[in-house]
Amino acid sequence: SQTPDGSAAVPQDLGTPGGDRPPRLSVVVPTRDEAENVSLLIDRLVPLVAPLDAEILVVDDSDDDTPAVLARAALDAPLPVRLLHRPAHARTGGLSGAVLLGAGHARGDWILVMDADLQHPPTTAAMLAAVAMRHDVDVVIGTRYAGNGSREGLDGPAREVTSSWATRLVKSLFPRRLATVSDPMSGLFAVRRDALRLDRMNPVGFKVLLELLVRHPAARVAEVAYEMAARHAGQSKASLREGMTFLRHLFRLRGQRLIGQIRTGPRALRERLRELGRLVAFGLVGLSGMVVNTAVLWFCYEPAQLHHLLGAAVATQVSTSWNFLLVDNLIYRRTRRAGLPARAVRFFLLNNVLLLLRLPVLQALVWAGVGVLAANAVTLGALFLLRFLVNDRVIYTA
Ligand code: GDD
Ligand code: MN
Repeated sequence: SQTPDGSAAVPQDLGTPGGDRPPRLSVVVPTRDEAENVSLLIDRLVPLVAPLDAEILVVDDSDDDTPAVLARAALDAPLPVRLLHRPAHARTGGLSGAVLLGAGHARGDWILVMDADLQHPPTTAAMLAAVAMRHDVDVVIGTRYAGNGSREGLDGPAREVTSSWATRLVKSLFPRRLATVSDPMSGLFAVRRDALRLDRMNPVGFKVLLELLVRHPAARVAEVAYEMAARHAGQSKASLREGMTFLRHLFRLRGQRLIGQIRTGPRALRERLRELGRLVAFGLVGLSGMVVNTAVLWFCYEPAQLHHLLGAAVATQVSTSWNFLLVDNLIYRRTRRAGLPARAVRFFLLNNVLLLLRLPVLQALVWAGVGVLAANAVTLGALFLLRFLVNDRVIYTA
């Protein structure tokens, strides 16, 4: 049977069909062009999860012959292996969309999500599921960042650094929710099916676990450390484009929380007034920072003879430190929540992103004949309100 968009409405049954009684565990495996991996995956996984009373559900977005290879590998499997293949036009939500579609079809009490490329060792994955099924929690995460966990399998140092910084950024954006979560973007996790509210979930990009954690603030989370292996064959589907999607995803997750904060009534009025007070204080600090910034820029530009854009970059670091000290201690002393490193990282990140916005405008003004110091001050002033809002609503609310 087919849905209106032409994708299969029900999974195709491979392996041994399940009986009337649902299994206890559904292993959801998203695949995209994994013909070289699925066969080995099934061979290793089946004997490990069969004793747990499991079904395997592969949600496939491939253009290669992954479905055929899977069908062959599943022939003698003593458990249900179900395949949902999405044709090219029906692959909404990419990896996340596939995982959530699989979760919607899962029949087990627990859903185990794992990659098909053997980066998540089947022994570890099965052990994680077994642990999850024995405990009174809602989500169990396979972590590379705690205990004996490791990221050796991440392809290359660049990817490793990006991954650990992305994790830091994400943890600083959701400090309360992720306080006890060391690997919020892991692709290996198990979730109790009745704790998962699919209607809350937005399928976007690769980071389905992050979405799950943020949309289920009350879910009880535990972690199991594991060593991530190297990809068995083929290539990672992570890309620069996927990276951009990730940023969009983060904005969405944060943005909806901002909207959730708008309220009305006398309490809200008091809150507005306080906010106005912070705005004024922020403005005064900003003015003092502007003096610092201009002085440093002058020094770089005149006696030190640096290029003015480089000077502006240096000046921004100095004035950002100055502003951070004042803002952090004077304005948000009582309300700040995240740890000092998280606050500092966010503050510097924001000011440096704004610096990138500022430099082209600064250069344009200089070309138009405006003096360097004046052009610098104008661009700083123009971004004042934006800086305040991001500080007040993002950096110091989380
Ligand atoms: N159905 C479907 N659709 N599956 C996909 C898609 C898609 O668009 N994109 C990737 N996959 C499948 C792959 O076939 C693989 O089984 C799994 O999702 C992970 O994809 P990889 O391409 O191997 O991703 P990775 O190794 O770079 O990223 C993994 O590690 C990250 C953390 O470092 C994934 O587990 C990510 O979820 C995780 O955040
Ligand atoms: Mn991989």
